Amino acid sequence: MKMLVVMGRGGTGKTSFTALMTKYLIERGETPLLLVDSDPDQNLGEMVGVDLYEQGKKTISDLLIETFLEEGGTLVGVPPSERIESRIWAYGMYEGDDFDFIAVGTKWIEGCYCLPDAALKGALETLTKSYRYVLVDSPAGLEHLNRRITSKVDDIFDIIDPSKKSFDHVKRAYRVAKEVKIEFQNFYVIGGYRFPEGLETQVRKILPFKFLGQISYDEKVEEYVLLGKSLLELPSDTPAYLSVKRIMENAGYA
Ligand SMILES: Nc1ncnc2c1ncn2[C@@H]1O[C@H](COP(=O)(O)OP(=O)(O)OP(=O)(O)O)[C@@H](O)[C@H]1O
Ligand SMILES: [Mg+2]
Repeated sequence: MKMLVVMGRGGTGKTSFTALMTKYLIERGETPLLLVDSDPDQNLGEMVGVDLYEQGKKTISDLLIETFLEEGGTLVGVPPSERIESRIWAYGMYEGDDFDFIAVGTKWIEGCYCLPDAALKGALETLTKSYRYVLVDSPAGLEHLNRRITSKVDDIFDIIDPSKKSFDHVKRAYRVAKEVKIEFQNFYVIGGYRFPEGLETQVRKILPFKFLGQISYDEKVEEYVLLGKSLLELPSDTPAYLSVKRIMENAGYA
């Protein structure tokens, strides 16, 4: 199992990149995939054509609250991580042909509950083992890193827009990930769709991370997002998809 995490400032294109990366891995037959939406805004579902609630599923937050706060001491003897794991499989997991999908949800992000956090971490460690790739779409801030719900990651993709803030974000993200002791193999930087061509040389000078390329601006992506259509259905010759393909190849997924 390989875990890929997408990060970046607000609106840089994290969620659409996660969706297009999904499309790429599906087309290469690199399944089964697990998609994890860890953004409380929950946009990833729509971009890959999944409506969790319509499917009668719940978010991980809801399940954690039900299991540990509302029910309290039932199921004595079953370790917390096993308890939540079986709940996730039964009530939180959307199972599709090419990928499965879970969403962390809102409420959880706000508090800090040590037992459920630890339980979730344990559950995710076992649950993710059945997949070839686990793709995580992150919220814009960096606070989520502190929860350390996953501590072993293969690749981090940080998407930047052309702003100093974005450059600072990358450095901070790298530092925080190190500080909270998330182990990762690669820390990659990607130019978002608003990133002008040619700025790449500058990025390479300023940032000590591997720059994988940039995501092309694509009217079709805008259109699909506006209509709530799945980006998995984008034609394979659209600029954004082709650019993501190149990015993935540069990261060694060829
Ligand atoms: N390649 C692209 N070409 C044109 N527009 C794009 C492209 N990618 C994303 N967009 C537009 O930018 C908006 C933000 O993209 P996206 O939701 O992927 O960013 P995000 O980083 O996940 O945002 P947030 O921080 O809110 O989660 C989308 O609504 C879409 O309209
Ligand atoms: Mg997003």
